[in-house]
Amino acid sequence: QARVRVHHLSQAKARGEQIVMLTAYDAVTARILDSAGTDVLLVGDSMGNVMLDHGSTLPVTMEEMLVATRSVARATERALVLADLPFGSYESGPHEALANAVRLVKAGAHAVKLEGGSVRSESVRLISQAGIPVFGHIGFTPQSVNALGGYRVQGRGDDAAEGLVADALALAEAGAVAFIVEMVPEPVGARITRECPVPIIGIGAGARCDGQVLVWTDMAGMSEWSPRFAARFGQVGEALREAARSFGTAVRDGSFPAAEHWFSS
Ligand code: KIV
Ligand code: NA
Repeated sequence: QARVRVHHLSQAKARGEQIVMLTAYDAVTARILDSAGTDVLLVGDSMGNVMLDHGSTLPVTMEEMLVATRSVARATERALVLADLPFGSYESGPHEALANAVRLVKAGAHAVKLEGGSVRSESVRLISQAGIPVFGHIGFTPQSVNALGGYRVQGRGDDAAEGLVADALALAEAGAVAFIVEMVPEPVGARITRECPVPIIGIGAGARCDGQVLVWTDMAGMSEWSPRFAARFGQVGEALREAARSFGTAVRDGSFPAAEHWFSS
């Protein structure tokens, strides 16, 4: 199974084929999602919400991202492994951004992602000049939740939409190979996708993007709560609870372990 690479994503955009992306934070899950044909596995800093229960992405550290990236990368044969630069790992400037991007690549990432608009141009340029593909992330950017006044749709109104297109074009010019566009009105997602030369992967950005990404626990039905833009494609949480219940019952009623599970002298 040949590895998905950045040029395959550009080819998909050119051919009008949808790009499929999910998050992954550990080897067990990554192996399953990879074998299902997911094109890109994002080691997202949503790990802070989903796996670490911080309630936001802000506390996530480089060390935590490195552990998750190593696990996902080792378990993945086909998907492109994309890793987030966490909050505080790139904002102070291009050299810090590059140094931390290099650490993620050494941990097994094939590409890195950072949040923000044209203000990130120099960081994107330096990272891509080092031979590391960089994804941008615009629209709602969770690392800026406090400045954005909460979890709110971005890009409403002509000026805001114009601004997002300008950000995407500036970052693509600086070398960004693709973008996540999060929580923008459907027509804005469509417009960025049309006007930007590189693939646009949407989350809460409508169907006229070049692909879609979801947090895997939302997708699989593992989350107690999930945002309106997520949909459930399975009941994995309930299946896991049921498996744990059955195990408990079998231990308590003495039907597990049975002879085939133990060792004779
Ligand atoms: O961390 C993450 O899960 C993300 C996706 C929402 C794109 O950045
Ligand atoms: Na993220």
